[in-house]
Amino acid sequence: MTARILDGRALALTMQAEIAAAVAEQVNCGGPRPGLAAIQVGDNDASARYVRGKIEACERAGFASFPYRLPADTTEAQLLNLIERLNSEPHVHGILVQLPLPCQINEQTIIGAVWPIKDVDGFHPTNQGLLASGNPRFVACTPLGIQQMLVRNCIATEGAHAVVIGRSNIVGKPMALLLMSKGPGGDATVTVAHSKSRDLAAIARSADILIAAIGRAHFVTADMVKPGAAVIDVGINRTSKGKLTGDVDFHEVSKVAGAISPVPGGVGPMTITMLLHNTLRASQIGQRQS
Ligand code: GUN
Repeated sequence: MTARILDGRALALTMQAEIAAAVAEQVNCGGPRPGLAAIQVGDNDASARYVRGKIEACERAGFASFPYRLPADTTEAQLLNLIERLNSEPHVHGILVQLPLPCQINEQTIIGAVWPIKDVDGFHPTNQGLLASGNPRFVACTPLGIQQMLVRNCIATEGAHAVVIGRSNIVGKPMALLLMSKGPGGDATVTVAHSKSRDLAAIARSADILIAAIGRAHFVTADMVKPGAAVIDVGINRTSKGKLTGDVDFHEVSKVAGAISPVPGGVGPMTITMLLHNTLRASQIGQRQS
């Protein structure tokens, strides 16, 4: 078997064009132009690349963007100050603070300081709680993008066994909640496995949909995949030669799986697309409240 490739780049282009059309219509009708503030602290190369990608996508879709690049020795108080200003800035509908942050800054404090109605990353405890209680508002962009990838590629989740490898607040936990929620892209039977799970290979092999978000290059091998399963690779790892590679051994697993997302060109572009989706929605929520 040769797996169908789940092309995140192509789907992201389609969805970003849909978002750009919605922005143009909103602005033509006198509504607000969605605005995203993106904050990077320090000079981590990978973070700089991700933030640049997000800003460029915003600009292509007709959003206003407000990039902030702060020095690595920025204090927590200074960052909180900036967030406070952006919380009350009417042209800014969404605020993104790129993670990880330097060690002098407590990430949970920062995540909690962004107003929940501007938390387009979906990281604030209020937004995570809304998702957990079945009333999602802003959902974390990577799991939301994966759900869209499944839906738009007609990969049935209803009644399927989905296994999520990884239990982070950003990917694993919200992914599990989305897959078990009611409706399209949900209604799955979900297992969350992680580095401490006993017999992880057997758990993975029982999956109809396998989502790898463990952060270890080539962790998922062909013997861990049920023939015909859909395999989604969330990993972004660098080999010793600097090559970008996922959590899945793509070459071998694509001979067994029914569908597989590549790295790069799979989940990454969908994450950016969902950030635009959330920011457009934030601009509309703001409109209804004003
Ligand atoms: N670091 C890794 N992924 C993300 C993300 O989706 N948003 C933010 N803000 N930081 C990240």
